[in-house]
Amino acid sequence: MPLDINIANTNPTTLKTGCLVLPVANQRKLSGSTARVDQACDGLISSVLKQGDLADKPGSTVTLHHLPNINAKRILLVSAGNEPVSAAAFAQLAASQANALNAMNTKDAVSCLLEVEVEGNNNARKAQDISNALVVSQYQFDFHKSAKAKPVQLNKFAIHNENKKDNKALTPAVARGISIGNGVHTARDLGNMAANICTPTYLAEHAKQLKKSHPSLKVTVLGETQMARLKMGALLSVSAGSEEEAKLICMEHRGGKSGDKPVVLVGKGITFDTGGISIKPSAGMDEMKFDMCGAASVFGVMRAVAELNLPLNVIGVVAAAENMPGGKATKPGDIVTSMSGQTVEILNTDAEGRLVLCDALTYIGKYKPDVVIDIATLTGAVIIALGHHTTGMMSNDDDLADELYRAGRQSDDKCWRLPIWDEYQKQLSSNFADIPNIGGRPAGSITAGCFLARFASDYRWAHLDIAGVAWKQGAAKGATGRPVSMLMEFLLQRAHG
Ligand code: BES
Ligand code: MN
Ligand code: ZN
Repeated sequence: MPLDINIANTNPTTLKTGCLVLPVANQRKLSGSTARVDQACDGLISSVLKQGDLADKPGSTVTLHHLPNINAKRILLVSAGNEPVSAAAFAQLAASQANALNAMNTKDAVSCLLEVEVEGNNNARKAQDISNALVVSQYQFDFHKSAKAKPVQLNKFAIHNENKKDNKALTPAVARGISIGNGVHTARDLGNMAANICTPTYLAEHAKQLKKSHPSLKVTVLGETQMARLKMGALLSVSAGSEEEAKLICMEHRGGKSGDKPVVLVGKGITFDTGGISIKPSAGMDEMKFDMCGAASVFGVMRAVAELNLPLNVIGVVAAAENMPGGKATKPGDIVTSMSGQTVEILNTDAEGRLVLCDALTYIGKYKPDVVIDIATLTGAVIIALGHHTTGMMSNDDDLADELYRAGRQSDDKCWRLPIWDEYQKQLSSNFADIPNIGGRPAGSITAGCFLARFASDYRWAHLDIAGVAWKQGAAKGATGRPVSMLMEFLLQRAHG
């Protein structure tokens, strides 16, 4: 059953629910609903806190059962730290709440988390974060399992709101939180799917399915014949060794004015990256099924944009191909002509992401974009630079870079800018073609960005290298759904200010 989230304003002490969530911002002085409930149950909450049962650490929780004079079956206390809390800290509180509720197996809950004071966030934004965290926390991936996961219990949730005046703003905020969460689910599902199932053709089918649920989307798919006609020599060189046909998938959402230039998102969709003839070592190679997570994030964003019917023109483009060795595969030293006319010497067939992206970046020029953002698991080097926390961002436009940086901070799905100054362009020189596809070891993420920049000079453009953040390794192996949240924040800012 899909999760139902409402806004409610009933007395927390008399309200009947499986669980009432109360924030504890300052353990010494309770306020708002928490204080009222404490009073009603003769200070039981205060005495539990005095006992030290709730850790100070923001996001810590403790569950109390059957409090006297209270109708709620359980009380979940959530430690909020010192008010006002930062926007990022609040998002984490919302996540703690969601995880605790899922763990206790309650079917319904009412939360007073809106009462936490947050730096710079109004109640609508808090409601968005609360809803988003609930949806994201309920993610399960059992597509390939014969025993399906047990459906999550919690399906009825209410956000307690003292201030009735806000109610009107809260409902659309809840919708935003849910849709961004749905977008994250889509990105994770596609990322987690095995590469023998999730092929370029599968991704193209997914786009058509998306159109079925959102008929306003316009979907077009180019196959290899059409790409050859368009002279996409770089993109085609990547799929040359594969039995799977490459696809260029375009999804158009025209929610803005017809004259408004669109935001174009371009995702790297390498459904499996063996490295090609420059083959990768076998240890951990299974993780190269995640090499389409940029594309997956574009699908996630397009789903959320369509669900919310954002008043913007947004176009999502996915360059999907499989990078395999084979008799017809591209060899190191081969030279291809990109759609832009620039010739590329492919010195390493494992630097394939930039090859599919460069032709996509040329192709999307036809949309006369306002800004273009590409999203790609492009380089291992970005993990050396920024680890697994932060997306590497590069841009030819300072304002766009700032916008993305802020969107990352606000959504806690952060990026950090790396320079693509001319000095680095010098590392891209070839004796035989206009440009080589690799720039040597130093600044590997930057030279990849510099390569792309040569195909993006006609518009404002940013590149997001998500190789370090798109999936988790080890016991928690799986796609994260990043950077759907950052991109949605970016688009919502543009739509609503
Ligand atoms: N998909 C990889 C990048 C990657 C590597 C992402 C490891 C996440 C983890 C990309 O296609 C690639 O192979 N890049 C090469 C570029 C090099 C040959 C210049 C790399 O990073 O090693
Ligand atoms: Mn590669
Ligand atoms: Zn790759």
